[in-house]
Amino acid sequence: MSLIKEMIKKAQKEKYAFGTFDTSNLEVAQGIAWAAEAKNMPAMIGITESAVDYAGFLSLIGLVRGVIVESKADLVLHLDHGKDPKFVKKCIDEGFKSVMIDASANELEKNIEITKNIVAYAHKKGAVVQAELGKIPKLDTSVEAGVNLKQMEKTDPNEIEKFVEKTGVDTLAVIIGNVHGMYKPEGNPHLDIDLLYNLRKKVSIPFVLHGGSGTPSEDIKKAIKEYGIINVNIDTEIRIAFMGGLSDFCMSGQMVTDPRKVLSIARDAVQKKVEEKIELFKS
Ligand code: 13P
Repeated sequence: MSLIKEMIKKAQKEKYAFGTFDTSNLEVAQGIAWAAEAKNMPAMIGITESAVDYAGFLSLIGLVRGVIVESKADLVLHLDHGKDPKFVKKCIDEGFKSVMIDASANELEKNIEITKNIVAYAHKKGAVVQAELGKIPKLDTSVEAGVNLKQMEKTDPNEIEKFVEKTGVDTLAVIIGNVHGMYKPEGNPHLDIDLLYNLRKKVSIPFVLHGGSGTPSEDIKKAIKEYGIINVNIDTEIRIAFMGGLSDFCMSGQMVTDPRKVLSIARDAVQKKVEEKIELFKS
């Protein structure tokens, strides 16, 4: 059994979640790996299409794979929010054992068709697939408070059985009040636990929670312990930790000529943040 399949099975059985932490550079990848190692917990290191636009496909997966090989922790390279089916297939061809196909911008039937096609392709090559049902909004500080929250389409309990059955997907990202990003003009978004309960009654598939940054810890704990969320995704809080490390150094007024002196401070800040999240997800 592949590592990711074992990770999913164990998390499901023991009722904890592992994190997916996104990166677009070496220092964040190392901060994630070192945190997983320090906490002796598995994790996924996620890359996105925009991270690839920034760093280059082979450069990014090469550096993440190097970090994984050099770590003692159980770590899996994962494609987060793969929107272009061609790109998702390219990742599978490159040996990814975990991918997300995010066709959630489409109507139900189209989402099913695209997801099903990727599942068939991935399963032939031993990869697991995560899909999304419902639409998660990305909060944007440039818009009027609350506008994007209204774009949220929570996962519909009347669609979930059909989606899971027709696609054969391995894990499912559910939209239950979660939001990408930190800026919450209407306060921290609470998870709709009643909806989660209703979704869980319909299907036994492991659930994934996106938009983990800024979500109240108590909601996250409940979702993991009682309703089978086995994976929580964090990006924004890692970026904030990284930038906090950099800006603390800049504010100190010190001058250095070696970028490693500054980047290692940011890397330590990422490690600390990821350790905190791992601790929350296993509690
Ligand atoms: P946050 O940026 O809210 O942590 O969400 C991350 C995420 O869900 C990545 O897929």
